[in-house]
Amino acid sequence: MSSHTPNIESLQHEERVFPPPEQFRQSARIGSLEDYESLRAEASASPETFWARMAEELHWFKKWDTVLEWTLPHAKWFVGGKLNISYNCLDRHLQSARRNKAAIIWEGEPGEQRTLTYQQLHSQVCRFANVLKRSGVETGDRVALYMPLIPELAIAMLACARIGATHSIVFGGFSADSLKDRINDAGCKLVVTADGGYRRGSEIALKPTVDEALKHTPTVKGCVVVRRTGTRIHMEAGRDHWWHELMETVDAKCPAEELDSEHPLYILYTSGTTGKPKGILHTTGGYLLQAHLTTKWIFDIKDEDIYWCTADIGWVTGHSYVVYGPLSNGATVLMYEGAPNHPEPDRFWQIIERHGVNIFYTAPTAIRAFIKWGEQWPLKHDLSSLRLLGTVGEPINPEAWMWYREIIGKGRCPIVDTWWQTETGAIMISPLPGVTATKPGSATKPLPGIEVDVMTKAGEAVGANEGGYLVIKRPWPSMLRTIWGDDERYQQQYWSEIEGVYFAGDGARRDADGYFWIMGRVDDVINVSGHRLGTAEVESALVSHEAVAEAAVVARPDEIKGSAIVAFVTLEGQHKTSDALKEELRKHVTREIGSLARPDEIRFTDALPKTRSGKIMRRLLRELATGGAVRGDTTTLEDFSVLEKLRAEEE
Ligand code: WTA
Repeated sequence: MSSHTPNIESLQHEERVFPPPEQFRQSARIGSLEDYESLRAEASASPETFWARMAEELHWFKKWDTVLEWTLPHAKWFVGGKLNISYNCLDRHLQSARRNKAAIIWEGEPGEQRTLTYQQLHSQVCRFANVLKRSGVETGDRVALYMPLIPELAIAMLACARIGATHSIVFGGFSADSLKDRINDAGCKLVVTADGGYRRGSEIALKPTVDEALKHTPTVKGCVVVRRTGTRIHMEAGRDHWWHELMETVDAKCPAEELDSEHPLYILYTSGTTGKPKGILHTTGGYLLQAHLTTKWIFDIKDEDIYWCTADIGWVTGHSYVVYGPLSNGATVLMYEGAPNHPEPDRFWQIIERHGVNIFYTAPTAIRAFIKWGEQWPLKHDLSSLRLLGTVGEPINPEAWMWYREIIGKGRCPIVDTWWQTETGAIMISPLPGVTATKPGSATKPLPGIEVDVMTKAGEAVGANEGGYLVIKRPWPSMLRTIWGDDERYQQQYWSEIEGVYFAGDGARRDADGYFWIMGRVDDVINVSGHRLGTAEVESALVSHEAVAEAAVVARPDEIKGSAIVAFVTLEGQHKTSDALKEELRKHVTREIGSLARPDEIRFTDALPKTRSGKIMRRLLRELATGGAVRGDTTTLEDFSVLEKLRAEEE
């Protein structure tokens, strides 16, 4: 090891390699290694020239004067340039045959379907932009969107972008308190919501939550409500207005504002492990450029494709890869409102078959749920339209990756494992499906123009196959600009852990081929007998056992070893819990990665506590494993009953 600073060790080994399928390669947007290498070479020789050339793909009202102004840690991209994202996502396509192409194909959970062409989406966006103006929203004001996954959410985002209002989307599962805090932090002037939405067959009320939140939000002047479920709700006179009524009162013409490249596009709150949520701020030109390019390169989108990213728009994945990236490429985007297992666990496969989805992008947590539900569900459906699969959000265990490849992709579709963060705005490390040979569990290599490294805390690069901290060494166009209202926290959180570089907060290792293996959040690192292990690796070892569907590994203090490893394990449908199975799993981990990683304790459970975006909340498990009580912040927890059950199982 290159430093005395304790570092993260990596014990995982994975030998399988899958070159891009020849047929895919032949028609891919980037299908030759030479093209790819030349982009890479151009980008590293002169990043600014490279990004400037790429930015020609966007529509600019006025070209920039300076590509990058960088005073660590503050970046400004395409300074002096003027553009509008809604113009890039809509108006630009109205001049070609795309005008009559489906922009959004939407399916509600109860089964209704709606299609909006680019022309129709454009006129809805213009109308809502006029509604915003009428409601007193001006360029620079903030608007909170608290909505189910319905087309009106995308319309509201694009309408904000059209007039230069900054949107702050709060995922529809958050409580009144969380919503209130986020509205107040951003000082929002208007809230857009719906009466409710549907999830797993039930109606989820939204408006009552908004009513509760708006009791303590002095900056809010009005609230626009979409009628989705038709349930009876309270409408506060003077403050609340129906979407459909307002839309009738305005016309469908609204020119797109010519905005500065650095104009604030959106704030998106992301939870720190502790403390109050951080309002990540993204701006216009650089963000759109990278969302646009990565969508084109990584998802290989063509005009004929139907593309489906299953993320809720309330998360960054939905911002960049349901709305801005695909629409700026003129793609057809499928949106589905509800749960993957409603009415049955084959809803996703049914949707893929019904609409002929070609590109499918989802999260490891969903894939592990599909594995648990059993392969009979996807096998019932014709998935032959699929040509490309993607994953994001957590490290994907190699066995889940293989299942995805074989059962969903039938060995035919490349898998793009995409690493990025709310803060990065767009995908940073990912295969390009037509050129990169993939290895199950690795996000492979950084994209052209992105300079990533693995370092010790002291800022020294580590060698091949040594674990360390993932850092980004150069500013990139879609990087966060600051934390809203707290620039100090921005500097301290991202730019002070290791001097001079962006600290991603993830552990990683780079193998001898230059492939990156993300080991999970560094707060999830466990320290056993002086060795720091990434929880993701131990979890992958557990998941590679046929009985295991999902695993979460945490540390509990241990007098002798420093930490003892506690594994929470859920089993695949047909398997039963037993002491013999516990012993077998411990042996299995020893075989897979070594006795150092052998769990001291295994706890079987029906479900794991997850955030609303599907990430396992190891912090809560750690608290449970340590003292039995959960004291920290649980506002991001998806399902409280899971904690209750875990507590009960302990007794
Ligand atoms: C994790 C989601 C491994 C990582 C876009 C990161 C991943 C955090 C991957 C950001 C991946 C995301 N492999 N880990 N392909 N993608 N992560 O802000 O820990 O919700 O720091 O953004 O998710 O989560 P966020």
